Amino acid sequence: MALNFAHRGSLTEAPENTLPSFQKAIDHGARALELDVQLTKDNRLVICHDHKFTRFNKEVNGLIKDYTLSEIKQIDVGAAFSEEFKGTTLITLEELLAICPDDIMLNIEIKNIPIIYDGIERILLDCLKEHDRMENIIISSFDHVALANVQELAPKMELGMLFYYRILRAWEYAKNSGLKISSIHPNQVYVDQTFVQECKRLGYKIFPYTVNTGERYEELVGFGVDGVFSNSVEMFGR
Ligand code: G3P
Ligand code: MG
Repeated sequence: MALNFAHRGSLTEAPENTLPSFQKAIDHGARALELDVQLTKDNRLVICHDHKFTRFNKEVNGLIKDYTLSEIKQIDVGAAFSEEFKGTTLITLEELLAICPDDIMLNIEIKNIPIIYDGIERILLDCLKEHDRMENIIISSFDHVALANVQELAPKMELGMLFYYRILRAWEYAKNSGLKISSIHPNQVYVDQTFVQECKRLGYKIFPYTVNTGERYEELVGFGVDGVFSNSVEMFGR
């Protein structure tokens, strides 16, 4: 059975990567959530995809890393989505862990590009350890150096290797990296039967992103993917 990740929560129903977004995904029966983490100015882990606020609040020009957590908690990121969510703010990883049952898989994506957050790997792992949540987690990143850093600090942690571009023989790249990668997370646009077969041949799970139509989903499942990242509510509980 495939495992599908609610991408940034249920982002069609609530501001992405916020508490209402994750709560809605959980309420829809999602068995797995995807979220992006970054560091605030005072080194707190905050859940957000973009490095800047402009998509969520046009009046805020700075970057996530320019603000402390208490400053970030004053910034509305909900009104741009709809009036109903006015007053919604970004949340910390701790806040998500507090509402997320342990049997829901979390894919925590370290957002290290274009800004590199030195030390984010240790801060993330410390947070997970402190909350007794080292299981049922995949840590992924487009920054494969970050994955190496996670592996060094927590050799048993499951690692997901993200690819945006179609690089030649991504599965061989993963193998040659020397990292203990559990899963390959490719952009879904170039995933075909061969891509899936080669990943599986080398023992990797494969979770393409972001798959939003039932037709493409069925095709990928037919190729043998282990699940997908999706924005579509219909995909969450499947
Ligand atoms: O982790 C899957 C997907 O979230 C990667 O791309 O840009 O949506 O974080 P992005
Ligand atoms: Mg992501």
